[in-house]
Amino acid sequence: MNNKQRKAFFAFVFTGLLLWFGYAQALTLSIESDYVITSYEVVLVLHELLLVFWLGPDIGVFIWSNKVANAELSDEVRTTAAGMMHTIDLFPRICISLMLTVGGILTEVVGLEHAWWQWIAILPLGPVWLTLVLIAYFKEGTSVGETVAKLDKWLRWIVVISVPISVTYATSIGRMDSAPWVSAKLLIFAAIVLLGLLARRHLDAMQDDIKKLGSTGSSDALNEKLIGSVKSARPYIFAIWAGLAIASWLGIEQPGSAQSEMRSAAVTVTGDLAEGGKQSWK
Ligand code: HEM
Repeated sequence: MNNKQRKAFFAFVFTGLLLWFGYAQALTLSIESDYVITSYEVVLVLHELLLVFWLGPDIGVFIWSNKVANAELSDEVRTTAAGMMHTIDLFPRICISLMLTVGGILTEVVGLEHAWWQWIAILPLGPVWLTLVLIAYFKEGTSVGETVAKLDKWLRWIVVISVPISVTYATSIGRMDSAPWVSAKLLIFAAIVLLGLLARRHLDAMQDDIKKLGSTGSSDALNEKLIGSVKSARPYIFAIWAGLAIASWLGIEQPGSAQSEMRSAAVTVTGDLAEGGKQSWK
């Protein structure tokens, strides 16, 4: 992908993002009918946007990776596919980097209040992580890029280890009692970061083979290696998508919370009252 195409791609994505944001806000306004956009609504929409711009491009990366491994395509098409894969892959990385901070802000809304010192960790985490992701991406191939990519990887390992520890501690002191589903979301997030690290091992191994494909052309051995890398990464990628789906369901349904119980009660009551015992959702 040349510079011009890259700029056009980013402009396209940015425009899409703005349109989606406007649309989501319009929806929020029409549902709530108070014609006021609260900071909570903005953060909620941002949280949803992170899911959209994580999962969508991730599927794109998956599709392009299959094209890279497809020996029936020309070398040119396959190297172009590798370029697309690399460009699109920036979006899931950005979304991962911001998810904990945005989610952390939302948890305050569902009754899990944070102490001031927790805010010191939650608020800068997203911007710092995002900066690492962007520097690692745009400075790739330079020593700065390599160093920052390593820092990004370490940060991911810190998240993988520290999130389950803090969730276990918070659960043991009863802090998560009002919103146990948030614990599950945090654990799923940590698992997704781990799965991403494991998948990346296989996908990173592809990079050298893709370079060879561009310089010396394909060979049976190279094709086999590329197919092997894509196949090995596949289970991790599917597991990540399953994790995203479960995390979304938990966010919508919020099982174990007072709000969820009230909704269940509403179904039972209207079910009892409705003629013929037919249940309806309120
Ligand atoms: C793993 C990736 C995640 C995905 C795919 C995801 C997805 C979602 C979705 C789809 C919703 C429902 C939004 C709505 O009702 O309009 C939601 C709500 C929510 N999420 Fe996440 N989420 C993720 C991670 C997190 C994390 C790590 C946290 C906490 C740190 C979090 C905290 C919340 C909260 C508190 C809500 C409820 C907001 C409300 O009731 O208004 N999420 N999430």
